[in-house]
Amino acid sequence: MSETKIQKVTIPSLRAKKAAGEKITALTAYDYPIARILDEAGIDIILVGDSLGMVVLGYENTIPVTMDDMIHHTKPVARAARRALVIGDMPYFSFHLSEEETVRNASRFLKEGGARGVKVEGASKKRLKLIERLIGAEIPVMGHVGLTPQSIHHIGRFKVQGSEKQEAERIIQDAVNLEKAGCFAVILECIPMEVARLITEKLTVPTIGIGAGPWCDGQILVFHDLVGYEDGYLPKFVKKYIDLHQILTRAVADYRDDVEKGAFPNDEYSYHLKPEVAQALEKSKEYKK
Ligand code: KIV
Repeated sequence: MSETKIQKVTIPSLRAKKAAGEKITALTAYDYPIARILDEAGIDIILVGDSLGMVVLGYENTIPVTMDDMIHHTKPVARAARRALVIGDMPYFSFHLSEEETVRNASRFLKEGGARGVKVEGASKKRLKLIERLIGAEIPVMGHVGLTPQSIHHIGRFKVQGSEKQEAERIIQDAVNLEKAGCFAVILECIPMEVARLITEKLTVPTIGIGAGPWCDGQILVFHDLVGYEDGYLPKFVKKYIDLHQILTRAVADYRDDVEKGAFPNDEYSYHLKPEVAQALEKSKEYKK
């Protein structure tokens, strides 16, 4: 039996969605089973975000995440994604030393990780040059402006960016510059929806919002936030679709109760010997203390 051919999401197909006014869907994933769920549910872009550091590795922010961490988690996601476009997030200090080092690190996402592009935070002049260099090396780049978590020590805390005119203008210009540099899409994080609307109207490449309102061409959330994996603080822009933390905690507590009272494993979950083998085994004198 021939399998139905899966139409992969590509950079041109994302552009076509924007042109047709169809929304683009994106989520983060960091392992095989979750990436499979996202792919099967028809999510267009799976980002292996450096949010990995906070939601999987237990760090306070994304700064400690390494290239090796990212490649380790990109591989299973790429193995799972049959349709979605998998993008690897360049972690802090993977694109800060030199252009050569940046191209080498980005190429690892494609060669070792199996991703089809990378994401880079920021839009300074130096960053734009780096992005052009990556694109020159055939590495598709997704830009990221507004709240850029790798700049946490500059910003002080995670908060809305671009609320004042001058700052909003800078973010709009950053997004325009990223498109000029060749980015195939731009993430807009935690900015007022009116600013995101202006950017979305100005750019021909898709904007993907997170905390940037409804007018972006697409939306992205951190998967663990969407399913309520953790029970801690969530920003205003997160819609929690299920309380997985509560559901999983209940399941684990039920298992603990069953084991403690001897209710698990019962017959249903156990293997049996044939009666004659059991009898022979009981009578066997082979065992000495
Ligand atoms: O690291 C990440 O998950 C991200 C998204 C929040 C856009 O950058």
